[in-house]
Amino acid sequence: MNYCVTGLQWGDEGKGKVVDILAEKTDIVVRYSGGANAGHTVVIGDTRFALHLLPSGSVRADTICVVGNGVVLDPAGVIVEIETLKEKDISLDGRLFISENAHVVLDYHKDEDRLREESLGKNKIGTTNRGIGPCYSDKIGRSYAIRMADFADLDRLKEKLNKIVVYKNKLFAALYKAEPISADEIFEKCKKYAEVFLPFITDTSEYLHNAINADKSLLFEGAQGALLDLDHGTFPFVTSSNASSLGMPAGCGVPAKFVDEFVGVIKAYSTRVGAGPFPTEQNNEIGDTIREKGHEYGTTTGRPRRCGWLDTVASAYSITIGGIDSVVLLHLDTLSGMDELKVCKAYKIDGKETTFFPANEAKLSKVECVYDTLAGWDEDISAVEKFQDLPANAQKYVEAVEKLVGKPIKMIGIGPKRSQMIIR
Ligand code: GDP
Ligand code: IMO
Ligand code: MG
Repeated sequence: MNYCVTGLQWGDEGKGKVVDILAEKTDIVVRYSGGANAGHTVVIGDTRFALHLLPSGSVRADTICVVGNGVVLDPAGVIVEIETLKEKDISLDGRLFISENAHVVLDYHKDEDRLREESLGKNKIGTTNRGIGPCYSDKIGRSYAIRMADFADLDRLKEKLNKIVVYKNKLFAALYKAEPISADEIFEKCKKYAEVFLPFITDTSEYLHNAINADKSLLFEGAQGALLDLDHGTFPFVTSSNASSLGMPAGCGVPAKFVDEFVGVIKAYSTRVGAGPFPTEQNNEIGDTIREKGHEYGTTTGRPRRCGWLDTVASAYSITIGGIDSVVLLHLDTLSGMDELKVCKAYKIDGKETTFFPANEAKLSKVECVYDTLAGWDEDISAVEKFQDLPANAQKYVEAVEKLVGKPIKMIGIGPKRSQMIIR
């Protein structure tokens, strides 16, 4: 089986945990989009791993890890991740393959991200400041981009950097009155990156197609979530890549037809970090309770996440545009102890009811949510092993969500640990 795992909300659904579990059955895990804006958590026993750029399969010693062309790779970040894993006796030698066509995030991308956000004031997107937008902009613009393959020819890289730095310095001075950056400083860092990364850089599309021909099983790991997709999300409050499963083929050079099951991940409620529309947001005691019980603070930036009720209009939309076959519902345990639970089942826009999510800021700003109210449960469910052993109201909640999203919920999360997953 080949799987593709993507988030169906605004990121942080728990993709890392799902990928870790499915990786037991697969040979290769492939990251195909986003960059160090992602923070994917895997918890094994008492050990917690937070992965930003390396595929979540990297915690399993036998899993091959591929970083595809669609990723914007921050070399400094990956070096830290490799070192952190080494400290836990996990080596990536011989099992990490990075696309020669992946674009490189350098310091000036992070500077540009921060400067632009600061200049936007109250209109800022609330990015992670990881240089994602500026790096993808350079990719689309083509003339000032650096790719991993450029580390193989340092003389040429130096020439390119000189040209880029002249351009960036003009831009930074004119727009932000910022201090100039130095091409030499960046080049010195790149020399170190070249040394570390050259052994890992390859044509990953060729590698993956050879693996498919050799009957290896593949697991594609999405970053962010479908509602943060550049084209299909809540633009402009999105990330700069196709974060839905639609980004998978372009992000690694493997057609979607090779995927047997597209797995979508949702939490039993909703969260969002940064600015942008969030129809079911509970900016009140309910949201605070969910945040504290679910430890809803960013894995990458530590920011408190905005919290609210589950929005099945939004999730069903992500399922539809992403061709999702099955759903994983996480954090059911976080809802224990709440008297009643609400699930958004439709939107009213200008008095008209709809169940199709409008990826349009003007329409989203007018949305009124239509809720179903379900009874809660008090029991601690974090050690339950079978669906039938969940409290009756918890079972009813899962069944109601399943009906509203229209796809089978095959796994249910009842805690952060690898072992805390009910398989149906
Ligand atoms: P990702 O970006 O989609 O991989 O998700 P994050 O790692 O950013 O955030 C998910 C958080 O929820 C992490 O802290 C996970 O350890 C935690 N988590 C995952 N599944 C569950 C669950 O079923 N219950 C609880 N309580 N925590 C979970
Ligand atoms: P994972 O993979 C949650 C959000 C940011 C911001 C917007 C744009 O862990 O689910 P960016 O830095 O990408 O330009 O920020 O997207 N964002 C995420 N939110 N989880 C993520 O990744 C995110 N990656 C980006 O908070 O609102
Ligand atoms: Mg995350």
